[in-house]
Amino acid sequence: MAENTNQEINNPMDKIVSLAKRRGFIYPGSEIYGGLANTYDYGPMGTELLRNIKNLWWKYFVQDRPDIVGLDASLISHHKIWEASGHVKGFADAMIDCKNCKARMRADHLLESFIESLDPQVIQSLQKEHSKNTDLVKSLKTAKVEGLPVQSLESIRKFFSNLPKKPLACPNCGKIDWTSIRKFNQLFPVQLGIVEGQGGFGYLRGETAQGIFINFRNVVDSTRVKLPFGIAQLGKSFRNEITLGNSVFRTIEFEVAEIEYFFDPENNDWKELFEKWKNSMWDFVTRELKISADNLRWRTHSDEERSFYSLMTVDLEYKFPFGFKELWGLAYRTDYDLRQHMNLSKKDLSILDPQTGKKITPHVIEPAGGINRLLLMILSEAYTEEEKRKVLKLHPKLSPYKVAVFPLLANKENLVSKAKDIFNDLKQHFSVAFDDRGNIGKRYLSQDEVGTPWCVTVDFQTLDDDSVTVRDRDTAKQERVPLKQLLQHFTSRLI
Ligand code: GAP
Repeated sequence: MAENTNQEINNPMDKIVSLAKRRGFIYPGSEIYGGLANTYDYGPMGTELLRNIKNLWWKYFVQDRPDIVGLDASLISHHKIWEASGHVKGFADAMIDCKNCKARMRADHLLESFIESLDPQVIQSLQKEHSKNTDLVKSLKTAKVEGLPVQSLESIRKFFSNLPKKPLACPNCGKIDWTSIRKFNQLFPVQLGIVEGQGGFGYLRGETAQGIFINFRNVVDSTRVKLPFGIAQLGKSFRNEITLGNSVFRTIEFEVAEIEYFFDPENNDWKELFEKWKNSMWDFVTRELKISADNLRWRTHSDEERSFYSLMTVDLEYKFPFGFKELWGLAYRTDYDLRQHMNLSKKDLSILDPQTGKKITPHVIEPAGGINRLLLMILSEAYTEEEKRKVLKLHPKLSPYKVAVFPLLANKENLVSKAKDIFNDLKQHFSVAFDDRGNIGKRYLSQDEVGTPWCVTVDFQTLDDDSVTVRDRDTAKQERVPLKQLLQHFTSRLI
């Protein structure tokens, strides 16, 4: 959204997007060339926040666990990987265009938001009147159409477009002039080699998971892992999909934090492991990221919606300003992927049980969460408007800067040099901002907007007694802290 400083912004999501742009968290992609749809760049504050989220995730799920190891696979990969995984055939979205304004959108999203906009009484009477049309009745009941075949989506679309009172119109221009619905593969092909046709072609990876499956043998052979164990990966995925705004919620390039947790189904009950993974995901979001449990819920995928590779999928959803939406998926992928790769590559991807000597093709449970969605959740949760200020009440562990140091006056050399000494000391331990522009009040407000939990002001008293004023972001209270205790003052609060 273009920032509008003169007009009042009322929509909560627009407010977050506006602050995120103004204060260097998220910029629209390729902006000076008119933008590139569904791409974003992260500014100085967004980059720090992303890094903090990723570091917390990596520590919690990889470094703190004896049973999980990391991997960083290539973004560009052999086309056969995606044939084996089923993505070349099955990784497609149903799309529809408005013939009038040429807007292109996902047909499932269009139909679902249309159902959500219907009056509950209308929904009830439509269900009664058309009780034999099972696809229609089910979609009206659940407000979900994902996974339905194109013909069913098309017939539901036609039905809604012909409703007499409130027909399905284009959300962009209001006209009812639709193309038919058709499938569109989301993988990005990449032409390799300097001369066309010379190097063959690959794909930008559509999910990080495949990098883990194809390296399964390498990891087993080069480490001391034993079942059950996980391989974790944090990195970008690429999907050529159409999105409906909402900032970085759905983009064509995004970062996923993913684990494939391998186990022998004869030794481990998948349902028990699944529950354990649900608990870990919940714990990470509520305890590490400090998100309120009231804004979270679990949702189980229906048979139609579930991906082709999964026997059971649940989503952890967050209440974004635009409604409860998927944050983090948990799927039981069985041994589908390893088997597919064994079939196509003709390589043995089974593992030997050291006790029984039996060959096992492990099954996997896969927690896969979007880092950019975690970031958007954190911004949504932290954004607070008070009478005289906007504050990002970020948990200090997540804040881009932990502390900002100010000399009271920018033109007093002794204050500036003392403040610089404090900055240099503190920066050894965490990220610190230094600001000597404008008055102290403005500097506080500026740090509040980027979520800096504490501001330190060096004043004339500091030169006398080696104490500074520490101002707390959330309470705006100030206290005097001796320089000797300053580091401990912050580190004790950064847990
Ligand atoms: N390997 C499984 C997999 O990739 P997914 O549900 O397609 O599962 C994992 O993606 C997570 O990545 C989702 O839970 C979501 O948070 C995030 N995600 C998916 N598509 C996205 C997109 N287009 N933009 C931003 N985040 C996305």
